Amino acid sequence: MRRKGSKDKVVSNSKMVENSFAEKQLNNFQPEFDMTPKSPKVYIRTFGCQMNERDSEIIYSMMIQEGYTPVSSYEEADLIIFNTCSVRKHAEDRVWGKLKELKNLKHGESACSGAPPMIGLVGCMAKAHGKEVFKKLPHVSFICGPSNIYDIPGLAKKVKSGKSHLMSISKEKRPLSEKRDEYREEKIRAWVNISYGCNNFCSYCIVPFVRGREISRRSENIIDEIKRLVDNGAKEVTLLGQNVNSYKSPTGKSFIRLLEEVNRIDGLRRIRFMTSHPKDAGLELFKAIAGLDKVCEHLHLPLQSGSDRILRLMNRNYTSSHYLKLIDNLRKTIPDCAVTTDIIVGFPSETEGDFEDTRMLMEKIRFDSAFIFKYSPRPFAKASNTEDDILLEEKKERNQVLLGCQDKITRKKNEDLIGNVEEVLGISIAKRKPSSSEYPPATYIKGRSRKNSLVVYKGSMGLIGRILNVKIRGVEENTFIGEAV
Ligand code: 5AD
Ligand code: SF4
Repeated sequence: MRRKGSKDKVVSNSKMVENSFAEKQLNNFQPEFDMTPKSPKVYIRTFGCQMNERDSEIIYSMMIQEGYTPVSSYEEADLIIFNTCSVRKHAEDRVWGKLKELKNLKHGESACSGAPPMIGLVGCMAKAHGKEVFKKLPHVSFICGPSNIYDIPGLAKKVKSGKSHLMSISKEKRPLSEKRDEYREEKIRAWVNISYGCNNFCSYCIVPFVRGREISRRSENIIDEIKRLVDNGAKEVTLLGQNVNSYKSPTGKSFIRLLEEVNRIDGLRRIRFMTSHPKDAGLELFKAIAGLDKVCEHLHLPLQSGSDRILRLMNRNYTSSHYLKLIDNLRKTIPDCAVTTDIIVGFPSETEGDFEDTRMLMEKIRFDSAFIFKYSPRPFAKASNTEDDILLEEKKERNQVLLGCQDKITRKKNEDLIGNVEEVLGISIAKRKPSSSEYPPATYIKGRSRKNSLVVYKGSMGLIGRILNVKIRGVEENTFIGEAV
């Protein structure tokens, strides 16, 4: 899946994002309203998962409709929004640190009012910490939970009129608001929410508490949204949900039926989805991936641990042998399917033996890439009542072992791909050219294979948004170098 950012925990790419949306947005932003220097400016900094990336797009859409212009730095902004993540403590620490730094921020020349900027803390941290945020950071103007993001324009208006320390955090499920929010980070590929929240209560996880119980969008609204995206040039959509397999539309439509409907949309070329839960994924899903031509051969299937004891404590509701059987069935149905995963090391009471079970399972399954996380206790999550008894040094050590193990597997898998012809969708001009590129420098296109590998190949702007067959000639740091055939 599309990911950017931190280097410390991840093999081949990163799940954490910390993007500078506004920079990209300034490139493809088509103003339809007053853009005089007086229009207020908004800067959103996004942390966390794809759900947050999508939410930031929605927030930008709303603020643009309110007359705001996106900018790419704190100094320029009248309104700074931190769209935050609480999944791991590390993600939160970075937000606290950055927000503290903003305390004495003075407006730069381009901001219009001369007053200090409004600062909004939005997303999972707002829900997790509530009004404690204002105690820690009195310069934050408002906080708003992930189910309440449609309140942000109203909150900003109230702050502008002199109010402060406003909160919008409800216990309700997220409203299935179907406002038209067309603002997108990218044109060729788009995120599409199919459900919000989660009912699984994995014992380490804060998500059900901050994002609430699962709620599925109406399938007709999802289909309409995708059709609109395709009319605007999208070729690929990624259907987003904490557990896409448990999608159920208000009329009872399952995820597989939804996939079939999306697959029938004219002009759409590719469909991805994430995340799948091993307890709910099965043969029917694998047959759909195999049988529906637009559904790409890539499954993100978080394993979390290879120890049955730890899986039980994590409340994952499957065993390592169930997981193995799933992978077996998947590979029998789609031999070439890429499989990626998430793993947590250092869960409370994880012994050397439990860890070894995870390492051995990874060796056996041979994932295409893996995100390896060090456990951190999270508020509300059941496991936080148990002592976090694995020392940080030990967690780091285990993390390094698994990263090394996955790195070897990824390298070998990458080498095996050399010589293959892959179907690649052109995404953008490649900033980094292959080390072997000649002089004068040619234009290179960055694209994604169906298995979601990054491929760079010589071409022109006209190839962006087009699907080509590309022969893989080499690989540099997990990026394949190819040649259009
Ligand atoms: N500590 C470490 N990793 C966690 N994850 C979720 N909660 C925690 C936690 N408390 C990881 C899981 C999940 C991914 C999104 O984040 O691996 O799949
Ligand atoms: Fe968290 Fe588990 Fe839900 Fe994923 S399935 S969001 S890990 S509770």
